[in-house]
Amino acid sequence: MSPAPIRLVAAPSTGAQQAPTSTGLRVPTAPRSFAEEVGASLRERPRRLPAHALYDALGSSLFDAICHLPWYPITRAETALLRQHGRSILEAAGRHPRVVELGPGNGEKLATLLHDVEARERPVDVHLVDVSATALDVASARLRRLPGLAIRTHVARYEVGLRDVVATRQPGETLLVAFLGSNIGNFDPPEAAALLADIRRVMQRGDTLLIGADLVKPTAQLQLAYDDPLGVTAAFNSNLLVRLNRELGGDFDLERFAHDARWNPAAQRMEMHLVSLALQRVHLPGAGLTIDFQAGETIWTESSYKYEPAQFVETLWNAGFVPAGSWRDDEAGFLLTLAAAR
Ligand code: TRP
Repeated sequence: MSPAPIRLVAAPSTGAQQAPTSTGLRVPTAPRSFAEEVGASLRERPRRLPAHALYDALGSSLFDAICHLPWYPITRAETALLRQHGRSILEAAGRHPRVVELGPGNGEKLATLLHDVEARERPVDVHLVDVSATALDVASARLRRLPGLAIRTHVARYEVGLRDVVATRQPGETLLVAFLGSNIGNFDPPEAAALLADIRRVMQRGDTLLIGADLVKPTAQLQLAYDDPLGVTAAFNSNLLVRLNRELGGDFDLERFAHDARWNPAAQRMEMHLVSLALQRVHLPGAGLTIDFQAGETIWTESSYKYEPAQFVETLWNAGFVPAGSWRDDEAGFLLTLAAAR
């Protein structure tokens, strides 16, 4: 029997004031509601929306669909690497790993890694951390189908969830933190560095971080990955407006906003926008907002940074890690790294 999932209070994911705590991790001092967070993001210039808001129930299903698109090979590439090298990864993680996944998605990738966890003397503790309760439900249901795992979920920001996970660490356990997909790519470089340093801070020597990174590749390939001919990615991005209409009483006209994916070579990132196709007024009473959009004005919803392999190793090193193993899919342009706390 797996223990019942523990549910921690959801905290907002962006922008809130951060203060150091006794554990050294940054936690928001002023939790904000979804409405407040959306309101503050839309008031920014350029206007923004929080990327985690993409993943409501429909958004999570659309993202699953993206992962099946021929033009978005990241997930398949990573899953194949996990299947091929899972055994060595788990061996490196020690005899009693406590596994934490930050942003588990549908749980499929961790299930691939853990599917042949041999009968160990005790069940492997698996902790899933995400701001989305929906995502955690799906991921934990997937992982509960595997024997030998004790699964716990934490509805929390990554830093907060991690702090809770290490607080109950058992003697003799080593920590394996999984941060898969191109999840790290969705953080601006200074935020990525801070998050990796936060992860490192809760670790002891011998603990490991398993991390995926999408690599710089030809622009045409990136463009197709983030603006596919079937329009699934456009639907995924636009669903944010559907959500705002539903949850905050908005009147966004879906016909008058378009998905736009742009490669920014200087910043090495794909930028996802929702472009207003006309001069228009939008009401969002739930966030106390009325917005006049110019034609061509955009709402910036997500960035996806792409790394050169050497840049990524340097980023890890600077955060206090040393690569212990790395596996690459050249066709997809994807790098999976096992990094040890140095
Ligand atoms: N983490 C995914 C990535 O950066 C998220 C993503 C894929 C995404 N396609 C998108 C986000 C389109 C916004 C719009 O690869």
